[in-house]
Amino acid sequence: MCNKDRRFVVCIAGGGSRYTPGILKMLVNERDRFPLSKVILYDNEAERQARIADYARILMGEYYPECEIVDTCDPETAFTGIDFCFMQIRAGRLKMRRSDEHIALAHGCIGQETCGAGGFAYGMRSIPAVVDIIRDVKRYSPDAWILNYSNPAAIVAEATKRLFPGDKRVINICDMPVGIMNQYADALGVPRDSIEARYYGLNHFGWFTAVLDRETGEDYLPRLREIFSEDLPEEAFSDIDPSWSETFHFLRKMVREAPEGHMPNTYLQYYLYPRHMLAHEDPNWTRADQVMAGHEREIFEMVDEVIAAGRIKGTKYGFTYEDLKDDDHASYIVDLATALAFNTKQVFLIMQENVGIVSNLTEGMMVEVPCMVGSNGPEPLSVGEIPSFQKGLLENQYAYEKLAVDANLEGSYRKAWDALTLNRLVNDTDVAKALLDEYIEANRDYWPELS
Ligand code: G6P
Ligand code: MN
Repeated sequence: MCNKDRRFVVCIAGGGSRYTPGILKMLVNERDRFPLSKVILYDNEAERQARIADYARILMGEYYPECEIVDTCDPETAFTGIDFCFMQIRAGRLKMRRSDEHIALAHGCIGQETCGAGGFAYGMRSIPAVVDIIRDVKRYSPDAWILNYSNPAAIVAEATKRLFPGDKRVINICDMPVGIMNQYADALGVPRDSIEARYYGLNHFGWFTAVLDRETGEDYLPRLREIFSEDLPEEAFSDIDPSWSETFHFLRKMVREAPEGHMPNTYLQYYLYPRHMLAHEDPNWTRADQVMAGHEREIFEMVDEVIAAGRIKGTKYGFTYEDLKDDDHASYIVDLATALAFNTKQVFLIMQENVGIVSNLTEGMMVEVPCMVGSNGPEPLSVGEIPSFQKGLLENQYAYEKLAVDANLEGSYRKAWDALTLNRLVNDTDVAKALLDEYIEANRDYWPELS
């Protein structure tokens, strides 16, 4: 794959997603570094994906004519002859995310997409769906790299580790650390790609321990702790989604209260401040409600308007190649793909099986840690020993994740119940049972049967 002149074929599994237009634009932006001959969109919902595909053909026709678009619901067409599969599926779509959140809140628990009871319910849907796709990719393109960022990534990664043991071509990754690093870069006034992270944890449950200048090796973490401890004017982050703005405001408190030498992942707000987070939830207007009425609606409106106009250039959605450079959030996926294709040895935070990486955490845990990535896949950097506070939290969380995967793969009610009881955001045997029974009912079309 190291031939510099080659053009790659990428399949986006979850082609009908609201994220696909953004990924396609990112691919347009990256066309020199990561040249493509074809993007295949694959989804199990033909109609929804067809809208995205029509939009994609217009987009590529105007901005990337060398890149063909194919849309299909047939695995053989989707996965034959591909170099990469970017996997971003949401089993049960936002409708089921909503159900996860609402059921949890009705029982007085946080019902977040990936955390707590909501994350459990989603994990039980996600595992079979993700595993099916990986099996199909392996069948038709055994050498393809599968970059999986389907959620809840911690649980999904634990399942892929079990079902595809030692398979370096299945890579589980998340954009949250990247999003946080972008903020660090802005705060430091340095380019995004000039810093790299040292970090440990489970997905959506970890801490930065250093933020290094790639050239000089200087560690910016002490300075970042200072900057991110300062109070912000209320209008800070007013240009982003209100829920994310609150999260980034709250990060200030978390940084101030985090143990010395650590910078928390934003998702720790749910685990370390559950009362505060619960008090701020509106059971009638959860995150899924917001996303359905907000981002998802906006994306599909844009897609439909572009299709109706038959063009992008000359409409309000027109842009130049220059404009794309300002919005490079999704480009970590291409950073990773080029690292694999061209052996760049860049460092990424990736979920990896703990084989002595964090010496005092359970072996086999799917830890999220810095990895050097080249054409042989990710090679984790050693983390060493971590403090008792984080170790205690992580071991508890991992035991929950492990039981959730056991429950799914074995069809075990008992293990599902234990998993929920163990979850820090449930923590009560009666509540766990009530939640489990309600989730089973709501997820009949998605979960394996539990007995
Ligand atoms: C971050 C996380 C993703 C998560 C997303 C939710 O990007 O890394 O794992 O799915 O946030 O964002 P939303 O806007 O859908 O709440
Ligand atoms: Mn994530």
